[in-house]
Amino acid sequence: MKHFIKILKKIAILLIIVLLMFQFFQIDKTNIVDNSNNISQVFQMNDSVSTILKTSCYDCHSNNINYPWYTYIQPVGWWIKHHINEGQDELNFDNFKTYKIRRQFKKLQECIEELEEQKMPLESYTLVHNEAKLSNEQKSLMITWFKRQLETMKTTYPEDSLKRPSKK
Ligand code: HEC
Repeated sequence: MKHFIKILKKIAILLIIVLLMFQFFQIDKTNIVDNSNNISQVFQMNDSVSTILKTSCYDCHSNNINYPWYTYIQPVGWWIKHHINEGQDELNFDNFKTYKIRRQFKKLQECIEELEEQKMPLESYTLVHNEAKLSNEQKSLMITWFKRQLETMKTTYPEDSLKRPSKK
Protein backbone atom coordinates (compact mmCIF):
# COMPACT_ATOMS: atom_id res chain seq x y z
CA MET A 1 0.00 0.00 0.00
CA LYS A 2 2.73 2.45 0.98
CA HIS A 3 4.52 1.65 -2.23
CA PHE A 4 1.36 2.30 -4.18
CA ILE A 5 0.83 5.73 -2.61
CA LYS A 6 4.42 6.64 -3.42
CA ILE A 7 3.81 5.83 -7.07
CA LEU A 8 0.58 7.83 -7.06
CA LYS A 9 2.41 10.82 -5.62
CA LYS A 10 5.05 10.59 -8.30
CA ILE A 11 2.42 10.47 -11.03
CA ALA A 12 0.63 13.49 -9.52
CA ILE A 13 3.85 15.48 -9.39
CA LEU A 14 4.67 14.54 -12.96
CA LEU A 15 1.20 15.60 -14.07
CA ILE A 16 1.54 18.96 -12.37
CA ILE A 17 4.91 19.51 -14.01
CA VAL A 18 3.47 18.67 -17.43
CA LEU A 19 0.51 21.03 -16.86
CA LEU A 20 2.90 23.78 -15.77
CA MET A 21 4.98 23.22 -18.91
CA PHE A 22 1.83 23.52 -21.02
CA GLN A 23 1.39 27.08 -19.78
CA PHE A 24 4.49 28.20 -21.65
CA PHE A 25 2.69 27.48 -24.91
CA GLN A 26 0.09 30.22 -25.04
CA ILE A 27 -2.22 30.63 -28.02
CA ASP A 28 -1.87 33.51 -30.45
CA LYS A 29 -4.41 36.16 -29.47
CA THR A 30 -3.55 38.75 -32.10
CA ASN A 31 -6.60 40.44 -33.59
CA ILE A 32 -6.68 42.22 -36.90
CA VAL A 33 -8.84 45.32 -36.74
CA ASP A 34 -9.84 45.97 -40.33
CA ASN A 35 -13.42 46.37 -41.42
CA SER A 36 -12.82 46.88 -45.11
CA ASN A 37 -13.71 43.34 -46.17
CA ASN A 38 -16.44 42.78 -43.61
CA ILE A 39 -19.78 41.37 -44.75
CA SER A 40 -21.33 44.76 -43.92
CA GLN A 41 -19.36 46.17 -46.88
CA VAL A 42 -21.15 43.74 -49.17
CA PHE A 43 -24.69 43.75 -47.79
CA GLN A 44 -26.62 46.39 -45.95
CA MET A 45 -27.49 45.48 -42.41
CA ASN A 46 -29.28 47.21 -39.60
CA ASP A 47 -28.00 47.41 -36.04
CA SER A 48 -29.89 44.35 -34.82
CA VAL A 49 -28.35 42.10 -37.45
CA SER A 50 -24.91 43.52 -36.92
CA THR A 51 -25.19 43.15 -33.13
CA ILE A 52 -26.32 39.53 -33.35
CA LEU A 53 -23.45 38.69 -35.68
CA LYS A 54 -21.03 40.32 -33.26
CA THR A 55 -22.31 38.70 -30.09
CA SER A 56 -23.18 35.27 -31.45
CA CYS A 57 -20.84 34.56 -34.35
CA TYR A 58 -17.74 36.76 -34.33
CA ASP A 59 -15.88 34.91 -31.61
CA CYS A 60 -15.26 32.14 -34.16
CA HIS A 61 -16.05 33.68 -37.53
CA SER A 62 -14.14 36.96 -37.60
CA ASN A 63 -10.68 38.41 -37.06
CA ASN A 64 -11.81 40.05 -33.86
CA ILE A 65 -11.96 37.40 -31.19
CA ASN A 66 -12.70 37.94 -27.55
CA TYR A 67 -10.37 35.77 -25.51
CA PRO A 68 -11.72 35.16 -22.00
CA TRP A 69 -9.37 34.56 -19.03
CA TYR A 70 -9.62 30.78 -19.31
CA THR A 71 -8.02 30.84 -22.74
CA TYR A 72 -4.82 31.63 -20.81
CA ILE A 73 -5.05 28.20 -19.21
CA GLN A 74 -3.78 25.33 -21.31
CA PRO A 75 -5.00 22.96 -22.62
CA VAL A 76 -8.35 24.84 -22.46
CA GLY A 77 -6.98 27.62 -24.68
CA TRP A 78 -5.72 25.13 -27.27
CA TRP A 79 -9.11 23.50 -27.48
CA ILE A 80 -10.85 26.86 -27.94
CA LYS A 81 -8.27 28.06 -30.46
CA HIS A 82 -8.89 24.92 -32.48
CA HIS A 83 -12.58 25.81 -32.71
CA ILE A 84 -11.74 29.37 -33.68
CA ASN A 85 -9.38 28.24 -36.45
CA GLU A 86 -11.94 25.80 -37.79
CA GLY A 87 -14.68 28.41 -37.64
CA GLN A 88 -12.55 31.04 -39.39
CA ASP A 89 -11.61 28.58 -42.13
CA GLU A 90 -15.23 27.76 -42.80
CA LEU A 91 -16.47 31.31 -42.70
CA ASN A 92 -14.85 34.59 -41.77
CA PHE A 93 -17.25 37.53 -41.81
CA ASP A 94 -14.27 39.89 -41.79
CA ASN A 95 -13.02 38.41 -45.08
CA PHE A 96 -16.42 38.04 -46.68
CA LYS A 97 -15.80 40.64 -49.37
CA THR A 98 -12.73 38.74 -50.58
CA TYR A 99 -14.78 35.60 -51.25
CA LYS A 100 -15.73 34.73 -54.81
CA ILE A 101 -19.38 35.44 -55.61
CA ARG A 102 -20.12 31.73 -55.65
CA ARG A 103 -18.60 31.23 -52.22
CA GLN A 104 -20.48 34.20 -50.77
CA PHE A 105 -23.70 32.70 -52.06
CA LYS A 106 -22.86 29.27 -50.64
CA LYS A 107 -21.97 30.72 -47.24
CA LEU A 108 -25.27 32.58 -47.00
CA GLN A 109 -27.08 29.31 -47.73
CA GLU A 110 -25.01 27.52 -45.10
CA CYS A 111 -25.76 30.21 -42.52
CA ILE A 112 -29.48 29.68 -43.06
CA GLU A 113 -29.05 25.92 -42.72
CA GLU A 114 -26.95 26.17 -39.57
CA LEU A 115 -29.46 28.52 -37.97
CA GLU A 116 -32.46 26.43 -38.96
CA GLU A 117 -30.83 23.30 -37.61
CA GLN A 118 -29.75 25.17 -34.46
CA LYS A 119 -26.14 24.12 -34.95
CA MET A 120 -24.77 27.64 -34.62
CA PRO A 121 -23.64 29.19 -32.42
CA LEU A 122 -21.97 26.04 -31.07
CA GLU A 123 -23.59 24.70 -27.94
CA SER A 124 -20.28 24.36 -26.10
CA TYR A 125 -19.96 28.12 -26.63
CA THR A 126 -23.45 29.22 -25.57
CA LEU A 127 -23.07 27.16 -22.39
CA VAL A 128 -20.57 29.74 -21.15
CA HIS A 129 -21.73 32.67 -23.29
CA ASN A 130 -25.35 33.03 -22.38
CA GLU A 131 -25.56 36.35 -24.23
CA ALA A 132 -24.76 34.57 -27.50
CA LYS A 133 -27.80 32.31 -27.32
CA LEU A 134 -30.35 33.23 -29.96
CA SER A 135 -34.00 33.65 -29.09
CA ASN A 136 -36.53 32.42 -31.64
CA GLU A 137 -37.11 36.00 -32.77
CA GLN A 138 -33.41 36.65 -33.20
CA LYS A 139 -33.02 33.43 -35.11
CA SER A 140 -35.83 34.19 -37.54
CA LEU A 141 -34.56 37.75 -37.91
CA MET A 142 -31.19 36.36 -38.99
CA ILE A 143 -32.69 33.74 -41.30
CA THR A 144 -34.87 36.37 -42.95
CA TRP A 145 -31.89 38.64 -43.35
CA PHE A 146 -29.68 35.94 -44.87
CA LYS A 147 -32.50 34.93 -47.22
CA ARG A 148 -32.98 38.50 -48.36
CA GLN A 149 -29.27 38.73 -49.24
CA LEU A 150 -29.58 35.53 -51.23
CA GLU A 151 -32.43 37.09 -53.20
CA THR A 152 -30.38 40.23 -53.76
CA MET A 153 -27.53 38.13 -55.13
CA LYS A 154 -29.90 36.22 -57.40
CA THR A 155 -31.15 39.43 -58.96
CA THR A 156 -27.67 40.93 -59.18
CA TYR A 157 -25.69 38.10 -60.71
CA PRO A 158 -26.40 35.65 -63.52
CA GLU A 159 -27.49 32.27 -62.25
CA ASP A 160 -24.47 30.31 -63.39
CA SER A 161 -22.10 32.60 -61.49
CA LEU A 162 -23.75 31.52 -58.24
CA LYS A 163 -23.51 27.80 -58.75
CA ARG A 164 -20.63 25.47 -59.18
CA PRO A 165 -20.21 24.72 -62.88
CA SER A 166 -21.65 21.26 -63.47
CA LYS A 167 -19.10 18.69 -64.59
CA LYS A 168 -19.62 17.20 -68.02
C1 HEC B 1 -17.64 28.82 -30.64
C2 HEC B 1 -17.33 29.02 -32.00
C3 HEC B 1 -18.42 29.28 -33.00
C4 HEC B 1 -19.43 30.22 -32.95
C5 HEC B 1 -19.73 31.20 -31.84
C6 HEC B 1 -20.15 30.12 -34.20
N1 HEC B 1 -19.57 29.16 -34.97
FE1 HEC B 1 -20.11 28.64 -36.87
N2 HEC B 1 -18.63 27.22 -36.91
C7 HEC B 1 -17.76 26.93 -35.88
C8 HEC B 1 -16.93 25.80 -36.25
C9 HEC B 1 -15.87 25.17 -35.36
C10 HEC B 1 -17.32 25.41 -37.54
C11 HEC B 1 -16.75 24.30 -38.40
C12 HEC B 1 -17.12 22.95 -37.95
C13 HEC B 1 -18.60 22.71 -37.95
O1 HEC B 1 -19.27 22.87 -38.98
O2 HEC B 1 -19.12 22.34 -36.88
C14 HEC B 1 -18.39 26.33 -37.93
C15 HEC B 1 -19.04 26.29 -39.14
C16 HEC B 1 -19.98 27.21 -39.56
C17 HEC B 1 -20.56 27.26 -40.89
C18 HEC B 1 -20.24 26.32 -42.02
C19 HEC B 1 -21.05 25.07 -41.87
C20 HEC B 1 -20.99 24.16 -43.06
O3 HEC B 1 -22.04 23.98 -43.69
O4 HEC B 1 -19.92 23.63 -43.32
C21 HEC B 1 -21.44 28.29 -40.90
C22 HEC B 1 -22.29 28.74 -42.06
C23 HEC B 1 -21.44 28.88 -39.58
N3 HEC B 1 -20.54 28.21 -38.78
C24 HEC B 1 -22.22 29.95 -39.21
C25 HEC B 1 -22.25 30.49 -37.93
C26 HEC B 1 -23.15 31.57 -37.55
C27 HEC B 1 -24.14 32.25 -38.46
C28 HEC B 1 -22.89 31.83 -36.24
C29 HEC B 1 -23.58 32.83 -35.36
C30 HEC B 1 -24.99 32.75 -35.26
C31 HEC B 1 -21.83 30.91 -35.81
N4 HEC B 1 -21.49 30.12 -36.87
C32 HEC B 1 -21.26 30.89 -34.55
C33 HEC B 1 -17.66 27.61 -34.70
C34 HEC B 1 -18.52 28.61 -34.26
